[in-house]
Amino acid sequence: MVSASVRWLHVVAGIAWIGSSFYFIHLDLSLRPNPALPNGVKGEAWQVHGGGFYHMVKYLVAPAKMPDHLTWFKWEAYATWLSGFSLLVIVYYMNADMYLIDKQVLDMTAPVGAAVAFFSLLAAWLVYEGLCRSPIGKNELALSLIGYVFLVALTYAFTHVFSGRGAFTQIGALIGTIMVANVFVVIMPYQRKTVAALIAGEKPDPAWGGYGKQRSIHNNYLTLPVVFLMISNHYPFFFATKYNWVIVAIVLIVGPLIRHFYNARHEGKESPWWTWFVVVFAMMVVAWLSSTGPKGQTGALPATPTFAQVNEIVMSRCSMCHASEPVWAGMAAAPKGIRLDDPETIKLHAKVIAINAALSSAMPPGNVTAMTMDERQVLAAWFEAGAPAK
Ligand code: HEC
Repeated sequence: MVSASVRWLHVVAGIAWIGSSFYFIHLDLSLRPNPALPNGVKGEAWQVHGGGFYHMVKYLVAPAKMPDHLTWFKWEAYATWLSGFSLLVIVYYMNADMYLIDKQVLDMTAPVGAAVAFFSLLAAWLVYEGLCRSPIGKNELALSLIGYVFLVALTYAFTHVFSGRGAFTQIGALIGTIMVANVFVVIMPYQRKTVAALIAGEKPDPAWGGYGKQRSIHNNYLTLPVVFLMISNHYPFFFATKYNWVIVAIVLIVGPLIRHFYNARHEGKESPWWTWFVVVFAMMVVAWLSSTGPKGQTGALPATPTFAQVNEIVMSRCSMCHASEPVWAGMAAAPKGIRLDDPETIKLHAKVIAINAALSSAMPPGNVTAMTMDERQVLAAWFEAGAPAK
């Protein structure tokens, strides 16, 4: 119940944050100059929504006189992070054995796993912040390339430290943390400084806006990969197959490309339609990579097994959780309502068994029941042969 409510809040806050930031990027890019506008105004935009017309005007630094009422956009970002981090603690840190670590990947205890995950969030953010503030931060192309290599290297490392699912959530949470920190540590403080200077009757430094703008562009390009990573833990073929880290590397290109298409379009430039060809091709590569089977799988499938063999594997590796009365400590009912505790239920669920435990290694979670690759191969051979009942 707690986890469901926090998840609900997280999704709603995320929608509000992404919605408002996409809106403002669009607004900023669609501003058109008009000589009739007052000095210090970059441009205007006309919009229609909900039965009324809106006339938006952007003041480059600030208006001559501060308005009495000013709306700030920050709680969407903070609420997304606070709820997301709570969810990370509830689901991944408190159940690290099942969702975060995999002892066959790296043998560590649950508290150590949670600590490694938490401190690597912090460390990665510090590295990013350092890069942005270093001379490299002045060169957008160099910064993007180094940033990309950094994120892919981290993903590779995480898939060798945590379970596939844990690694995907970790890299998503890490990018999300960088994005919220951009709002908290850079964008908001400089906005506050600007407003304070204006109230004091001083001239704010125009460079301040530039710092915020740089981070806001980073956030814009990072949004789609983060959303992909956040929903990917429902798709075993993405996180629990051989090339899971390559899939993330591709999505880290696809997401920004899609944003590039819309940014160019909203700016009134010619729409870069080529991006969609690249996106579709890249997603086909992702589909192919996700069909290559679980990590560690080699060689051809064994001869079609008998149902008795399959039954024995599922009963010994799955049924302690997937039963009407699970014997697994702390589990009240069969997860997701899926029972795998007699021949009938096993035959009924042949396909999802194959998806989660033979064609990928999503189940058992964190491989807590130490299922072997040979057993996965037996299940795969059974499924390939049409899941015979004998
Ligand atoms: C330690 C307990 C545990 C064991 C052992 C286990 N599972 Fe699961 N299983 C879970 C939990 C928990 C979930 C729900 C996962 C979630 O919340 O995403 C789940 C979900 C599933 C699902 C539903 C996935 C979906 O799409 O929602 C399937 C299918 C499944 N398990 C199959 C298996 C098979 C096959 C095995 C044996 C190879 C197995 N499980 C072993 C705990 C277990």
